[in-house]
Amino acid sequence: MDEAPAGATRNMTDETFILLRDFIYEQSGIYFADNRKGQLEARLALRLKVNNLSDYDKYYYLLKYDPNSAREMRALFDSVTTNETSFFRSLPQIQAFQEKVLPEVVTRKEKLNERRIRLWSAGCSTGEEPYTMGIVLRQVLNDDSAAWDVKIVASDISEKALRSARAALYSDYSLRSVPPGIKQGFFVPEGSSHRIVDHVRNLVDLQYLNLNDTRRVQLMKGFDVIFCRNVLIYFAPERVVDADLLGRQRRGGVQDALARLGDAEQRGGHPPQLDARAPSAAAGIHRTCSRAPSPPGPPARSPTPRSTRSSMPRPAVTAKAPA
Ligand SMILES: C[S@@+](CC[C@H](N)C(=O)[O-])C[C@H]1O[C@@H](n2cnc3c(N)ncnc32)[C@H](O)[C@@H]1O
Repeated sequence: MDEAPAGATRNMTDETFILLRDFIYEQSGIYFADNRKGQLEARLALRLKVNNLSDYDKYYYLLKYDPNSAREMRALFDSVTTNETSFFRSLPQIQAFQEKVLPEVVTRKEKLNERRIRLWSAGCSTGEEPYTMGIVLRQVLNDDSAAWDVKIVASDISEKALRSARAALYSDYSLRSVPPGIKQGFFVPEGSSHRIVDHVRNLVDLQYLNLNDTRRVQLMKGFDVIFCRNVLIYFAPERVVDADLLGRQRRGGVQDALARLGDAEQRGGHPPQLDARAPSAAAGIHRTCSRAPSPPGPPARSPTPRSTRSSMPRPAVTAKAPA
């Protein structure tokens, strides 16, 4: 690799920006629109420094052609992802999950005499979302918990985020929306931080998974509920509309999963694979349906601005004390 003279990193040219942005899109689905060139440049500056490179185009060639680029790819994904999250984020959705979706799943499974629940947090970031799912699940199953076989698969493309999720140690800021009863029942203080209790932590199986990896995603089968929240928003516009991930889920055999999207993702209209008539659709929870997805187009160079319609009204939340 080239030696970079001290402080001589060259600015990212428009041509290199397009090469890098299309490469990142092809590998991950994450899309940097033209107005985010400065952001991409800033996020990759450290990667140039670590690899002792003076030019962004050299970095592109390293990613694209170096036989040992696999490790750098993981570092690239750590750099280009946005991992913002918190416990009990979007309380109306959590409430719908707790009061409608999970009880429905439990009733259906009991009728089938199949005491097995599988949930998936796709794009779980640092773990707050899957652990929130685990807390709610423990509350819903209550004393009956031991009679159920429960697993929450939590996946992300960022290894750095997954490392934090594995540590399961959180700041006050991550817990800012957690109702007090839940904080006392499901977290153990550790210095100035809070550790999630083991009986919730043990429900969660953290995995590295790139949602752009069709082959791997098709192997993800048998989930009762999929949370995919604030992930598609970073994908190219046509992917947000087509919800390619959810289309793949159907093709991969998921027949009856309930999928949950974030507020911003719904503002552009629910994806065609999701049935907006499901009872919890107002809280962003939709049942997958069988309409065929339209084929994804090429990367959009000048994306159409998403609709700015405001989201649905939010119901009040009643936090329940832990069992
Ligand atoms: C803003 S966070 C959302 C976390 C959580 N779902 C929530 O709503 O609080 C988005 C997460 O999606 C992950 N992500 C983005 N593209 C991905 C991909 N292609 N495969 C897997 N995860 C991806 C990012 O690494 C990031 O952790």
